[in-house]
Amino acid sequence: MEIKGRSAIVTGGAGGFGEATVRRLVDKGANVVIADLHDERANALVKDLGSAVRYVRTDITDEQNVIEAVNAAQEMAPLAFAVAVHGGGANGGGGPQRIVDRDGNPIAVEHFRRTVEVYLVGNFTVLSRAAAVMSQNAPDDDGQRGVCLGTASIAGFEGQVGQSSYSAAKGGVIGMTLTAARDMGPAGIRFMTIAPGTFHTYAYGDVPIEALNDRFAKLIPNPKRMGHPDEYAKLAIQIFENDFLNGYTIRLDGAQRF
Ligand SMILES: NC(=O)c1ccc[n+]([C@@H]2O[C@H](COP(=O)([O-])OP(=O)(O)OC[C@H]3O[C@@H](n4cnc5c(N)ncnc54)[C@H](O)[C@@H]3O)[C@@H](O)[C@H]2O)c1
Repeated sequence: MEIKGRSAIVTGGAGGFGEATVRRLVDKGANVVIADLHDERANALVKDLGSAVRYVRTDITDEQNVIEAVNAAQEMAPLAFAVAVHGGGANGGGGPQRIVDRDGNPIAVEHFRRTVEVYLVGNFTVLSRAAAVMSQNAPDDDGQRGVCLGTASIAGFEGQVGQSSYSAAKGGVIGMTLTAARDMGPAGIRFMTIAPGTFHTYAYGDVPIEALNDRFAKLIPNPKRMGHPDEYAKLAIQIFENDFLNGYTIRLDGAQRF
């Protein structure tokens, strides 16, 4: 689908993957709504990219916030691309926890619920609300009205110790991909998911890249480094532009297996 002249919403648009995707979309001629909670980074991005982007402060767990962000994108130009790539850090759910800790205490149900709420329900909320708006677009020459892109993780296939909540949420994102593509097929809307491996984003805080590469490189067959966020963004653009990619989760991980 042609990107130029259309709009996009990127949840987590001020994050590592999100910013890289926003930049590539703007470069291709799209208008973009950055739906995020990080005012400082989002405003800096707006300052840098100008009127092609708008920041709409959005908590992904608040449906009304999400609807307002989706509508803001539609006001800029016909909404054709929705990317759910929020999460990470303190707002993204809890950190790793075993199902039962060493003292025999079970993980709080609230931890599980919050993680699923942000990553799985959030992915569903923005992509489904955006798809409803896209379904009203005039179709292009190939019968296409838009593309929804979710973000899972390789932990959705094979989580590590302490990742049961996160793996369950990301497994749900993977699980809904083909079904959503089937649901949206008649409307000319495609649905894809990217499952990243280990990428250097804000989620890793201030830890220097050299230290992270030392830690993770040995787990990644090739290239022996963490992924660059722009490698996610490049794949996102290919997914938007290639109409035959649909209903599938693409691992983007340098052949990493945990
Ligand atoms: N970095 C990795 O190695 C990696 C690997 C696999 C999957 N992922 C997934 O990629 C996605 C993005 O992660 P990232 O690495 O770019 O992290 P990041 O911390 O760089 O960016 C995430 C962004 O999401 C925003 N956010 C957090 N909670 C939010 C909420 N409730 N509502 C709206 N926005 C919110 C943050 O403010 C931040 O700007 C996440 O879903 C994460 O699980 C990351």
